[in-house]
Amino acid sequence: MPFHAEKNKLQLATIAVTAILLSACGKQEISLKGAEDALAQRSVTAGHGVVDYPDDSPSVPDGKIAWEQMNCATCHADSGKGVPGKCTVDLTSKEYERKQKPVDQFEFVSFGKPGVEHPKVNDKLSRRQAWNLVFYIRSLAQTPLSDAEWAEIDPVFGSNCAVCHGKKGVGDGPLARNLEPQPANFRNFERFYDRSDDVLWDHVAHGIKWEGMPDFLGKQDKAKNVKFDSDYIWKLVQYVRRFHESIVPTIAANPEKSENKTSTK
Ligand code: HEC
Ligand code: HEC
Repeated sequence: MPFHAEKNKLQLATIAVTAILLSACGKQEISLKGAEDALAQRSVTAGHGVVDYPDDSPSVPDGKIAWEQMNCATCHADSGKGVPGKCTVDLTSKEYERKQKPVDQFEFVSFGKPGVEHPKVNDKLSRRQAWNLVFYIRSLAQTPLSDAEWAEIDPVFGSNCAVCHGKKGVGDGPLARNLEPQPANFRNFERFYDRSDDVLWDHVAHGIKWEGMPDFLGKQDKAKNVKFDSDYIWKLVQYVRRFHESIVPTIAANPEKSENKTSTK
């Protein structure tokens, strides 16, 4: 029967393909041997339940020290624009930066990416310094708010957001207990390191449907003379970021805290 013959051929083909796939996987496993440690840590950063986040906000100025120690400028230039012929990624591009999640950047600089030849800081920097480095890279495109800029936005946050998110941004405003889900705690590293700035902008601009987070784009705070236009929402995103990144150097001020060569926490 021709039909059966066809079916058998198909089965054979399936078996052959499976065999090729299996042997390809086998090869990959061998080539990855010796990197189990890094792999285990990678799955941790990919959100498999084990906390792999810094204990406190990463420091942008500390990250600059890591950038210099690791000679990142050899290819990226001091500015981050990239040395011609060595790197075409422009780390100073806001458009580029706004699409990057901190957790992905942490993975890339720590463990690299398959198929990309790139220095890995995993066994050279402490976990904390790697996070500092990530936030330094982000600052190349967008300088974090200064204390003065922060102080300008803080009262606007106070009258428009704090009722839910709390004055300190930890999600404990007076309305919070009536909301399900609870307002976001801006100190929640796992949540916010898994968000690009684009996503945060979108959520502040358009709200989160059915979830209690209102949309602000186009609204006004007349008392504070503020229009929530696109630019102002970007400022709010930066304001939110300041809850989980720091512009204060700790290494120079506090040398015994600067564990520079431990790869485990
Ligand atoms: C030998 C040259 C070289 C050095 C040194 C180097 N980089 Fe890179 N970097 C590159 C190249 C090339 C790319 C583009 C890789 C690609 O094709 O995705 C890149 C890309 C990146 C990216 C963007 C990754 C992405 O997927 O968008 C980041 C972030 C980065 N580098 C950070 C660093 C940091 C931090 C250091 C220092 C620890 C560093 N680089 C050192 C060459 C280098
Ligand atoms: C009426 C209460 C309420 C007000 C007012 C409010 N929020 Fe929210 N917000 C929420 C809730 C609830 C969530 C969590 C929604 C969820 O988990 O899906 C949230 C989530 C967020 C998030 C996290 C989004 C994400 O991608 O995880 C950000 C950022 C945020 N709010 C910023 C603001 C800012 C800035 C303001 C003021 C301009 C503000 N919110 C005002 C209730 C509020």
